[in-house]
Amino acid sequence: MSRIEKLLSQMTLAEKLGQLTMTASGYAVTGPIIAGDSTESIKDGTIGNLLNIIGPGPTREVQQIAVEQTRLGIPLLIGLDIIHGHRTLFPIPLAEAALFDDAAWELSAREAAREGASDGLSMTFAPMLDVSRDPRWGRTAEGSGEDPYLTSRMARAKVRGFQGSSLSSADAIAACAKHFCAYGPVTAGREYASVDISERTLHEVHLPPFVAAVAAGVATIMPAFTDLAGIPMTAHKALLRDYLRDQLGFDGVLVSDYNAIGELMRHGVAADLADAAALALKAGVDIDMMADGYRKGLPIALERGTVTMDDIDVCVRRVLKLKEDLGLFDDPYRRGASAEAPEVLIERRQLARRIGARAITMLKNERDTLPLSPTVKRLSVIGPLADAGPEMRGCWWSAGENEPHVGVLAGIRKGFPNTEIRHAPGTAINSADRSGIPAALQLCNDTDAVLLCLGEATAMSGEAASRAYPELPGQQLALAEAVFEHARERGVPVIVVLFSGRPLVIPLLAEKADALLAAWFLGTEAGNAISDVVSGIVSPSGRTPMSWPRALGQVPIFFGQRNSGRPLSQGDSFTSRYLDVPNDPLYPFGHGLSYGSFVYDNLRITPDNASEADVITVRVDVGNHGRHGAEETVFLFTHDKVASVARPLLELKGYGKISLQPGETGTVELLLPASELRFLGIDLKPVFEAGDIEILVGASAERSRLLLGHLQLTD
Ligand code: GLC
Repeated sequence: MSRIEKLLSQMTLAEKLGQLTMTASGYAVTGPIIAGDSTESIKDGTIGNLLNIIGPGPTREVQQIAVEQTRLGIPLLIGLDIIHGHRTLFPIPLAEAALFDDAAWELSAREAAREGASDGLSMTFAPMLDVSRDPRWGRTAEGSGEDPYLTSRMARAKVRGFQGSSLSSADAIAACAKHFCAYGPVTAGREYASVDISERTLHEVHLPPFVAAVAAGVATIMPAFTDLAGIPMTAHKALLRDYLRDQLGFDGVLVSDYNAIGELMRHGVAADLADAAALALKAGVDIDMMADGYRKGLPIALERGTVTMDDIDVCVRRVLKLKEDLGLFDDPYRRGASAEAPEVLIERRQLARRIGARAITMLKNERDTLPLSPTVKRLSVIGPLADAGPEMRGCWWSAGENEPHVGVLAGIRKGFPNTEIRHAPGTAINSADRSGIPAALQLCNDTDAVLLCLGEATAMSGEAASRAYPELPGQQLALAEAVFEHARERGVPVIVVLFSGRPLVIPLLAEKADALLAAWFLGTEAGNAISDVVSGIVSPSGRTPMSWPRALGQVPIFFGQRNSGRPLSQGDSFTSRYLDVPNDPLYPFGHGLSYGSFVYDNLRITPDNASEADVITVRVDVGNHGRHGAEETVFLFTHDKVASVARPLLELKGYGKISLQPGETGTVELLLPASELRFLGIDLKPVFEAGDIEILVGASAERSRLLLGHLQLTD
């Protein structure tokens, strides 16, 4: 008999339900949801999984209780939100997506997993795979932006990174693809609000990243808090059981979101906790996070006959198998057994700095304002985010909350050791106080340049952080206007460094800044990364993974839209347009400048006549006509002009990178399997249709600037 079957045969109902329960250690004593001290519950086997424990000491302590002081000695699964780093914080996922570098994404996850596992953790609640096209939604910060293809590549990279080559190794942690699914299109961008989208959008936009995660072997998946067309994801049998498990073959663990099972009552689909627990269990949710619904509700559901012991046993088996796959039975103390060497931590911070610099997205750079000369004499660093190390963290800081995060001022001081650097905040991040602006304006005198550091507080994005006005908060616009005017009168260039967890609506900055860097939230090494870019040590290469709206009224705005029957036509008022704003975004998906100047030429498509089994090679020559070496990201889009279903004007099908020194030319080669050109027909079943496909290659989703080629698909 296997270990799992043997254990199952020995377990009481309470012990089984304990394996299906995850509680936060800190909350178990006083929390509003699970009463009682988790220690006692661990000892009597009625809690089998924990989250939100920080540090190797505490994790080992609770693990020892579970392994050495309980009847069956089943080890704990201990999880934490390691979303973009553990102690060493990397850029937020939206920023990291700007690298379009799968190897870098995997590496940062690998490093985060090593750091988390060295703290005794065996699970993270990441990657977050929600496609978002609405910057009002705060969790845009946690995802990879507006495109399913990009998010799918991120999914594969992050699952590989977190889980490594073997889930049982001491530095591997179980990844968790979340939040399944279609959480991004919450109504009006309002957090946790209902979701209503078409079946087509569900299957073409929001499910593909999870398909990719399952194919990559993700160990766990977390359903979203939200309902989809009235069915809460936590109880969505059709998508959790029929689609995920039966159709995709996902046999890992489904872990509910925080109290999501209990919230089925608020959704209005469960009359009491027992009903809620039965709905979730029948939908295939294995672990109840923080609702205590399984422990309290399933015994009643068993009596009511709404669930069976077999239903429970199926879930217990999956949880025990995950623990077995993680090696927790073989050696429950394997993770956290030894501290990492100091040089590992130093190298990890250097990696965070390199990735941080590459995440910076230069939206504007008039008259080559940047890079600054290293010999610049005087710099003024102004703004509420200039000397704000903790604000650099980003929305999930895991164990990195109190680590020393390098702010802009500290980074610039280190990067420009021979430059006189003056600083004034001007105003706070989000206050009505303008009294500091005059002192800030003084710093626009007798200086070679102004670094104006503006944006959101780190807490203004992430979970429960939707903003109806995704703009500069507080009096920052007043500060910016005054600085632009003052500096312009003195011929002083103003470089805006903008911090945000989302694209912001920033028409003034776009118009008046001499240079504009989207610095997102770059994590522990933020200030050093920014200094590396401002000084030219690193050329910026980030490309925005999300469109920047000119006005909030354009939202949702994204490149993958269909043409409509009345596409915009200048001079014809009866076409798809606004009276007051152009249709196109301020900055399109993929936009980002570098210190190079790249020119594309000679697009080749071979073969240009293909059947479904063929792989098309797309080549384009790229030349750097600039004065600095830089890295360029080249995008491959397709458009099926005539099909049985109207297709998006652009579909992202690939991207590649090339680094070129001034004067150099190279060729980027992208492979496109013709099978990738299948789409969902009228009946939402995959179809491959003969016909003319546009192949578009270039630097962003700005269609007019893409090189256009044609591919003939044949049956
Ligand atoms: C939160 C989030 C989820 C996170 C979980 C545990 O509410 O929705 O992304 O993993 O709870 O912290």
